[in-house]
Amino acid sequence: RVVRRGDYAPPAWLVPDLALHFTLDPARTIVRATLKVERNGAHDLPLLLDGDGLELLALRVDGAAVDPVFAGEQLSIALAGDAHEIETEVALAPERNTQLMGLYASGGLLCTQCEAEGFRRITWFPDRPDILTRYRVRLEADKARYPILLSNGDPVASGDLAGGRHFAEWHDPFPKPSYLFALVAGDLVANRTGFVTRSGREVSLAIWVRAPDLAKTDHALHALETAMRWDEQVYGREYDLDVFNIVAVDDFNFGAMENKGLNIFNSRYILADPDTATDYDYDAVAAVVAHEYFHNWSGNRVTCRDWFQLSLKEGFTVLRDQQFSADQGSPAVKRIEDVRSLRAAQFPEDAGPLAHPVRPDEYQEISNFYTATIYNKGAEVIRMMHTMLGAERFRQGADLYFDRHDGTAATVEDFVRAMEDASGADLAQFRLWYSQAGTPRVQALLSHEPGDGRARLSLRQSVPPTPGQPVKQPMALPLRIKLFGAETAAPLAAEQLVELRDETAEIVFEGVSERPVLSINRGFSAPVIVDANRPAADLAFLSAHDDDPFARYEAIQQLMLDTLVLGVTQGRADHGAVIAAVRATLRDRALDAAFIAEAVLLPSESFIGDQMAMVDPEAIHRVREALRRDLAQSLAADWRAAYEGAHANRFEYSPAAKGARRLRTVSLGYVMASGAPDAPEIAFAQFEAADNMTDRQGALTALVNSDADCREAALDIFYHRYSDNALVLDKWFSTQALATRDGTLDRVIELAQHRDFTLANPNRARALVGAFSVNQRAFHTAGGGGYAFVADQLIALDKLNPQTAAKLVPALGRWRRFDAERAQAMRGALERILAVPGISRDMFEQVSKSLE
Ligand code: ARG
Ligand code: ZN
Repeated sequence: RVVRRGDYAPPAWLVPDLALHFTLDPARTIVRATLKVERNGAHDLPLLLDGDGLELLALRVDGAAVDPVFAGEQLSIALAGDAHEIETEVALAPERNTQLMGLYASGGLLCTQCEAEGFRRITWFPDRPDILTRYRVRLEADKARYPILLSNGDPVASGDLAGGRHFAEWHDPFPKPSYLFALVAGDLVANRTGFVTRSGREVSLAIWVRAPDLAKTDHALHALETAMRWDEQVYGREYDLDVFNIVAVDDFNFGAMENKGLNIFNSRYILADPDTATDYDYDAVAAVVAHEYFHNWSGNRVTCRDWFQLSLKEGFTVLRDQQFSADQGSPAVKRIEDVRSLRAAQFPEDAGPLAHPVRPDEYQEISNFYTATIYNKGAEVIRMMHTMLGAERFRQGADLYFDRHDGTAATVEDFVRAMEDASGADLAQFRLWYSQAGTPRVQALLSHEPGDGRARLSLRQSVPPTPGQPVKQPMALPLRIKLFGAETAAPLAAEQLVELRDETAEIVFEGVSERPVLSINRGFSAPVIVDANRPAADLAFLSAHDDDPFARYEAIQQLMLDTLVLGVTQGRADHGAVIAAVRATLRDRALDAAFIAEAVLLPSESFIGDQMAMVDPEAIHRVREALRRDLAQSLAADWRAAYEGAHANRFEYSPAAKGARRLRTVSLGYVMASGAPDAPEIAFAQFEAADNMTDRQGALTALVNSDADCREAALDIFYHRYSDNALVLDKWFSTQALATRDGTLDRVIELAQHRDFTLANPNRARALVGAFSVNQRAFHTAGGGGYAFVADQLIALDKLNPQTAAKLVPALGRWRRFDAERAQAMRGALERILAVPGISRDMFEQVSKSLE
């Protein structure tokens, strides 16, 4: 099955109202649905309902029983009049639902996940996002086992029933697509607070968890209030119901879900306390809470017409959560982190067999399109509009978009048009960002003629071919550019925003009397790869003098990358420039610790690999370790000083304290890399004395990556200390799976047999298999054992949870970039997966495209 964007047709029948009645039971839940349907336009098409894995018990049209007629997977109902009432009754088995789509059981709860196509696993329904329906829901369940019964919207009634059962009724006044339906039943407690919206609506906020987790919900609740206020102030968006509920569940396929008024979260994005969550986890909790809340407007009030428009809500909402996080701490460090993850996840996707446009043209299984391209590149595309239009006109465009499309299912085109109409900008060429896949490359060459005081910057862009798109047109690229004088270190002119539109362009700068140094794509204004071929001296200069913090970070990272790539390709080991730049950065008192920590970290092994046509994982590891050791030893006293200087007396979650801990962990890594005899003791002492998980896991990671005698002891202590905390055990697994030392493959194979390992829990599966598959050196261990291991796990996981399995395929899909022996073994692993009888649609699409 291939679904094509061009085949979109409006629905033949609408469903303005739906009543759902659940008799909840983990073994056998009965769902009765009453759909009011209305003919949409003049036609004589039947009503088509989607269903997946449902046991149909009854079907009635206008009160009369009818025999079901199936058209493929759909139920087809011929109707004579323009308005009818359809009733269905189905049975489901939530406790046997290992896919975690539809209604399922998790840790004693019953909960749902419907996006993208899970609602059809609950009841027969036209399960497409352009059907907007008012829901009335009645839940009935055993009161002792499921004392709390939640659904979307506002609670309207509840009470006791015979036989120890009870009920609750919920009405959602906002018509919504079926993917936003949710229910939760369970023994839950709430952390509550009130929120008064700008226009005076009193909203009761609650985060629901199991009783032992209640103490870990303050951070998430605080983040929710902060996000609600921020959306009022920055986007003028207010909340619109009397209650806002969040529930944390342990078994969840991804991060979280924005169901109207009832967000459901992977518990890893809710639960946080200093002993169990790192600063990274705290930040992620706040970002995901904000993200899901922001969907209430960008996603729920204005939803998507079809799933090809997914980035309409996801790209925009990611941008909004990035802007929110930037406003809570250091915008520069946030930008560095966002670009780092774009380069780690999205650039490789754009360069590989699964490359697709931000608005795809076709899919086999929509679950496979919840990608870094849709989310993160989608956010970059909207960020570029923000850059080109400016904050004020961008806000006017967003207002117009929300006004025009409130209560409807919209398209990417609607969004761009609102931006154009509000600002007067012409975004015709810019739209190519939505249709052309692949990361554009920009070559930049700066020349200077001292005589006439002129500098010329020539730019040339190209967009690489991607599957199904052999030829590309030039894109509209906003590049923030500035020149600095090499002698004075002063800016030679104000920053310019250059919009490159043609394949080539030349920009002339006048009055350039000293040799200019080019700072380009400042702030990462366009998500492109810039080849500026700047010599090491210029990069070192920029790393010290650029006035854009992101550009400073870029300069030092590019210097490191150039050094590492030369080391791998030509065996050169000239580390002087990197050492000098790192020394200067470490000693610069004007810089904050968080920035320093990001800047002095070497590019990851896989990012180094991404720069090369042919990846040699062992050589990359060797060359990177050599530079790390050299940096560690040459700057030994600086690392010690940075380590000691970043010591805090008591845990505090603030930007300054986070930055200090980050620098402490990074410095500890270098202290360890120096090979100093006392280094393991320092790490072990930090590991034991830590009053927070950031310091403890930082020390554990340093030990696990080393050959220190105490590494196994530290792992044991960590395991026993946290053996009853699933989220921390995930760290125990992933820290070992990510270890860059020898023997990781064997350890990972062993860990897959550990009594705490299970593929049934997505977090655990990702912690071991997912983490291992991005550990470039270990995954590509000579002999192909890493590929075979991952293939075995994916084959087993596909039988339980196809969505989660399919997400882990891309590591194997990088085979073109490796030597013949590895490539063949990787292909062999993919072919073995493809040959398994009963392979899921999710896996089939990912694996077959990866082999093409
Ligand atoms: N809409 C959710 C979010 O990003 C994620 C849903 C993911 N669904 C999926 N089938 N992968 O906030
Ligand atoms: Zn989202």
